[in-house]
Amino acid sequence: MSKKVKGKSISDYNGYDYKKIFWEDADRKYEDTADRMAVRKLLPRHMENFADIAGGYGRLADEYLPRAKKATLFDFSQTELDQAKEKYGKKLNTIQGDIYSLPFKDGELTTLLMVRATHHFKDIDKVLKELYRVLAPGGIAVIEVANKRTLPRIARYFTGKTKVSPFTHSVVNLSEIDKDGFFNYHPKYIENLFKKTGFKIDKVLSVSNFRSAGLKKVFGTKNLVRMEKGAQNLLAPIRFAPSIYYRLEKPGDK
Ligand SMILES: C[S@@+](CC[C@H](N)C(=O)[O-])C[C@H]1O[C@@H](n2cnc3c(N)ncnc32)[C@H](O)[C@@H]1O
Repeated sequence: MSKKVKGKSISDYNGYDYKKIFWEDADRKYEDTADRMAVRKLLPRHMENFADIAGGYGRLADEYLPRAKKATLFDFSQTELDQAKEKYGKKLNTIQGDIYSLPFKDGELTTLLMVRATHHFKDIDKVLKELYRVLAPGGIAVIEVANKRTLPRIARYFTGKTKVSPFTHSVVNLSEIDKDGFFNYHPKYIENLFKKTGFKIDKVLSVSNFRSAGLKKVFGTKNLVRMEKGAQNLLAPIRFAPSIYYRLEKPGDK
């Protein structure tokens, strides 16, 4: 379901139980663990003023709360923010709003995280500018990007199952997954955009490398998690996984 805000279509998670439907009722323990591993590796150990942007119901809050002096969960969906409040109470501030106009002052945040959200944004360049604006000089942004150049997509392309080339740098909109838009990015495209926005790329991880129902059946979640541990660093240079994680720095003195 989408909602129009200032002429923009927003993927509206209000009234949708994302936590139960997407994570708890589905077999996604491997994907959740892979995200947590990456977040643990990339977030700084001590964070002054942190925000989880488009953070949903605070799925990853257990990972960042112990490291943050102040933590804010920001999302468009009040349904999800309420779920987070119920679980974390005063430990986690919640703010509702639209990512295209973040309710933070220039340079207010020392660290931010954004996971599994880039696919929702038609104007990713504007989103990145907003994230850059609210980050303090010397601050860190950990951003997960939905990759268009994955191995299954390359296979589908070469076997003629899709005409969408995973190799071109243009943004692909997989509207058959979500009619409001489901945007995937070529690593080169997004990395150029990060640099154009002003970010310095500090570290890259290849994440959810074995995201496949078939592999889960054959190897089981436990073994895939074991393999994922080594693969996140090892496979980062080739960037073929569905999720690519970036640790970005806003240049400047802290
Ligand atoms: C797939 S969920 C990911 C949630 C969380 N980051 C996680 O990994 O569990 C995408 C989130 O983006 C939020 N979202 C989508 N469009 C948004 C917008 N324009 N402004 C703020 N949040 C938005 C949704 O409400 C949803 O919670």
